[in-house]
Formats: sequence, C-alpha cells, structure tokens
Amino acid sequence: MLRSLIPLASVLALGACGGETETSEPSASSASAAAQSATPAPAATQTASPAVTEAEGTEVLALAGADLGNGARQFRRCQSCHTLNEGGRHTIGPNLHGVLGNTAASQDGFAYSSQLSDAGLVWDLDTLNAWIENPRELVRGNRMSFVGLRNATDRRDVIAYILQETGDELAE
Ligand code: HEC
Repeated sequence: MLRSLIPLASVLALGACGGETETSEPSASSASAAAQSATPAPAATQTASPAVTEAEGTEVLALAGADLGNGARQFRRCQSCHTLNEGGRHTIGPNLHGVLGNTAASQDGFAYSSQLSDAGLVWDLDTLNAWIENPRELVRGNRMSFVGLRNATDRRDVIAYILQETGDELAE
C-alpha cells in the first residue's frame, strides 16, 4: 500500500522543480530514490505504472496531498478538447481515459500528428507532467494547442484528478 504513494510523491517532487515548495513526502528515502530514478524515461515507466496500479482512488491521492477539487477545475481547461470518461469520444483531442501507462498516440480512431506518434513517449507521471506544463516544448510541432499549466500544484492536481477518474483502467 505504501509503495503506491511513491509515484505520487515523485509528482510532488517534480512539482517542486517548478518553483513551488512541496513538503509532503510520505516515505522520504524511497520516494527520493524513485524521483531520482524517474529521470530516464524507461525507469520512470517501470516504477510509475505498476505502483500506481495499486492506487485506490481518492484515498491514496488524498494522502499524497493533491487537491482533487482543484484538479477538476483545472481539467475544465482540457475539457474543451478532451473527454475523460471511459469510451468517451475523441473530439479535438483524443479521449484521455486510462492515459497513464499508455504509449503516446496509441488511441484507435484519433488522427495524431506524426510528431507525437514518432516521439516514442510513454505517458508516465514524469512525461505527463512535462506535457501538461508545456506540450510544445516536450514534442515540437505536435497539434495540442494548449499554452500549458505553469503552476506545479495545478499540474499535480490535474494529474491526480485524471488518475482518480480513470484509476480502474490502470490495472492493464
Ligand atoms: C485546444 C485543444 C486542447 C486542449 C485545451 C488540451 N489538449 Fe491535450 N491534446 C489535444 C490534441 C489535438 C492532442 C493530440 C496532439 C497531436 O496529435 O499532436 C492532445 C493530446 C493530449 C495527450 C496525449 C494523448 C495520447 O493518446 O497520446 C494528453 C495526455 C493530453 N492531450 C492531455 C491534456 C490535458 C491534461 C489538458 C489540460 C491540462 C489538455 N490536454 C488540453 C488538444 C488539446
């Protein structure tokens, strides 16, 4: 159970890089180890996805200090282009249900840019955080015209909200 906090803690640590001071690190030593090993993409994928699979929705996320109400509010900015419900339609952007752990640009029936398809990304907490902060910088020439959420707390909260809304899909 505690292990499932680690990837969320690394989101908090990432948040701290964005200029905010985050203090909550439920299991400090292993969390910082996870945060360090999270830098190379493959390692982050391996630590993030299976551990988050064990997350039990709001309980774990609340423990990690995320504000899901704020996450829902922030997600309104995504909603003009994305649905989040299971089986939701692709609109301007692809449906985001269960996006964590997916290979980027892998939803059937959505015409992704070649830039995103060719980027070789997997959506773990690290890449998702970077994408939401500044999609253009992470993948040059992609088609998500969104300015980005510059506030690290807002990113943490919106990621927590996406996980909460799609948590049952993470088991795949
Ligand atoms: C103006 C429309 C728009 C907004 C606003 C927007 N997106 Fe997107 N998003 C897109 C488009 C279009 C793509 C596909 C990009 C491509 O193919 O290059 C995309 C792709 C994505 C992907 C990759 C999905 C996959 O299957 O690989 C994620 C994750 C994502 N968006 C998350 C978000 C989040 C979270 C927000 C809000 C903080 C957001 N987006 C706001 C249009 C938008």
